Amino acid sequence: MKVAVLTISDRAFRGTRKDASGPALAEAVRARGWEVALLEVLPDERERIAERLRELSGKVDLILTTGGTGLSPRDVTPEATLDVVERRVPGIPEAMRAEGLKRTPTAMLSRGEAGVLSGTLIVNLPGNPKGALECLKAVGDALAHAVEVAQGRGEHGGMAYE
Ligand code: MTE
Repeated sequence: MKVAVLTISDRAFRGTRKDASGPALAEAVRARGWEVALLEVLPDERERIAERLRELSGKVDLILTTGGTGLSPRDVTPEATLDVVERRVPGIPEAMRAEGLKRTPTAMLSRGEAGVLSGTLIVNLPGNPKGALECLKAVGDALAHAVEVAQGRGEHGGMAYE
């Protein structure tokens, strides 16, 4: 799987905070035997995030975003994701929150979404590195299969993905 990792954080974008989540996720992605095609930092700007998701969709299999899923006024990652996806996959964030709630009640504060655009699965993860890794761990085993089916390559066939 080719994976793009997008850290979404004003402070990491401005360089006033070091991006810890992006590199941590990249390492976890590689540990799964997947390829990190891109590791990038974007500010919390809805239009800009949406534009980047559109550009990358159809080019990579999976886009993992980290950050901007909470309740602060600048958090717009879920909105940008919903702006672009053709179909939501609610079970993915449901599973992440269910797993997270076993450890911390604040897991319910992530509004992360997941969905498919042009055969690319987009999954929003929370911003702190521990939370992002926990969430990836909670759903990671299902993601390759999800992408396969979304691209029409599943065992039951389907439309060829262009
Ligand atoms: N999910 C897990 N599994 N572990 C965590 O530590 N942190 C929560 C939540 N989800 C957390 C988690 C917190 S404190 C917040 S504010 C929200 O994710 C949103 O984080 P974000 O705005 O950085 O995306």
